[in-house]
Amino acid sequence: MLPKRRRTRVGSPGAAAPSAARFPGVAIYLAEPRMGRSRRAFLTRLALSKGFRVLDAYSPEVTHVVMEQTSAEEAICWQERRVAAFPPGCTHPALLDISWFTESMAAGQPVPVECRHRLEVAMPRKGLPSPVWMPSYACQRRTPLTHYNTSLSGPSLQEALETLAEAAGFEGSEGRFLSFCRAASVLKALPSPVTALSQLQGLPHFGEHSCRVVQELLEHGVCEEVERVRLSERYQTMKLFTQIFGVGVRTADRWYREGLRTLDDLRGQPQRLTQQQKAGLQHYQDLSALVQRPDLEALQQVVEAAVGQALPGATVTLTGGFRRGKLQGHDVDFLITHPEEGREAGLLPRVMCCLKKQGLVLYHQHHRSEDPTHLTQQSHTMDAFERSFCIFRLPQPPGSAVGGHQRPCPAWKAVRVDLVAVPISQFPFALLGWTGSRHFERELRRFSWKERGLLLNSHGLFDPEQKTFFHAASEEDIFRHLGLEYLPPEQRNA
Ligand code: UTP
Ligand code: MN
Repeated sequence: MLPKRRRTRVGSPGAAAPSAARFPGVAIYLAEPRMGRSRRAFLTRLALSKGFRVLDAYSPEVTHVVMEQTSAEEAICWQERRVAAFPPGCTHPALLDISWFTESMAAGQPVPVECRHRLEVAMPRKGLPSPVWMPSYACQRRTPLTHYNTSLSGPSLQEALETLAEAAGFEGSEGRFLSFCRAASVLKALPSPVTALSQLQGLPHFGEHSCRVVQELLEHGVCEEVERVRLSERYQTMKLFTQIFGVGVRTADRWYREGLRTLDDLRGQPQRLTQQQKAGLQHYQDLSALVQRPDLEALQQVVEAAVGQALPGATVTLTGGFRRGKLQGHDVDFLITHPEEGREAGLLPRVMCCLKKQGLVLYHQHHRSEDPTHLTQQSHTMDAFERSFCIFRLPQPPGSAVGGHQRPCPAWKAVRVDLVAVPISQFPFALLGWTGSRHFERELRRFSWKERGLLLNSHGLFDPEQKTFFHAASEEDIFRHLGLEYLPPEQRNA
């Protein structure tokens, strides 16, 4: 994707000088105490590059004081000490939380100051839980696996919004899909359950529609729209079809429009199915039951053994949802690499051959590696690594009960496994890209592009202006380069 608008690089020599400020009514002072010197310098460069005026010293000229991780009480003390020296009659600048600053940077202009931005000692409001401050991008906040907006009885607020997101995705409404995903993801990051609509005030991504859904659920326990969607033939069929290995939204939609509704309808038309979809249908029952941790451990052992045999020194790293701490998943994702760049080339076919000899492979589809330079930001779930999308035949310990087969004690179970061969120089990017969640990745890439003007994917981090790739030795390096706090995999369940 080409930049819609050329962005000035943060801290580049061409950054606008304070005198060339685009917003004459605004003079920002970044108060350092909780911010630290280097972060302050970074934020200063960022603001200057966007045409804001940033003053180095606190003076009566300052219109907006921005603080980070500072309570209203501390902020007011801080200001009182300083304005004492000002001439009488000076108006005091607004004391603002960093949220005003980040939103303004994202908007490319000063956003109007709202109550939620102000560091003011609020009058205690009885009975109402106070609103929390939440950064806009999912990669700027912690999202643990278990959160406070799950529900034991009936669908939770977050699940309701995710259903609407999914349904919008089925209709190809990308904008609505993203809006609902973002709102649902904010709920997962909240430090307490939402019990009153007022708690949504000031939260990012809660538009009118999402607020209405939450309101209905809080007031009536159900949301009419969500129920209508959930029970609709369209939603149920699209969900059924897209769950088949090898079937995406476009294929499912075509089948639906042609009147197909059930798996048996599809089985009756084998000529329409790819080999992958045939395998998906054949193992549908097993594959729709979730993979459990013991399955994962057994799989990791056989994959590690096969990789070790195919190329001594090569390593296997678990990624995907299980790396984020999930206890079950739809598939298992492994990255394979070797400490010597290039040795991983051609490794996967040898690994697959070894696994096949052991009778462990029910289906596999090999993708050769491609030139990653054509990858764009939009194809965020695509990459160009050599990879194998497989269905494994995983032997089950005797006596274990698995939903898959009708037989009382199945001897094996079909499990989806993705194996990806990664050159060591790209490994941190691949690990970050494949760890997910999907929404986290989408947000991280959007943040990189919109806030930093950098293109991130599973192969690298590219500066389109300097035409350079950033070298990273670890995931931490990538977060650092993007100016983000490092989030361990368990906090990326956005
Ligand atoms: P998964 O689809 O495996 O999801 O993608 P998951 O989080 O492990 O959860 P399960 O499997 O449904 O339980 C994991 C990550 O890998 C990336 C996705 O973007 C996601 O972030 N991915 C997946 C790719 O980069 N390329 C692919 O072809 C598939
Ligand atoms: Mn996965």
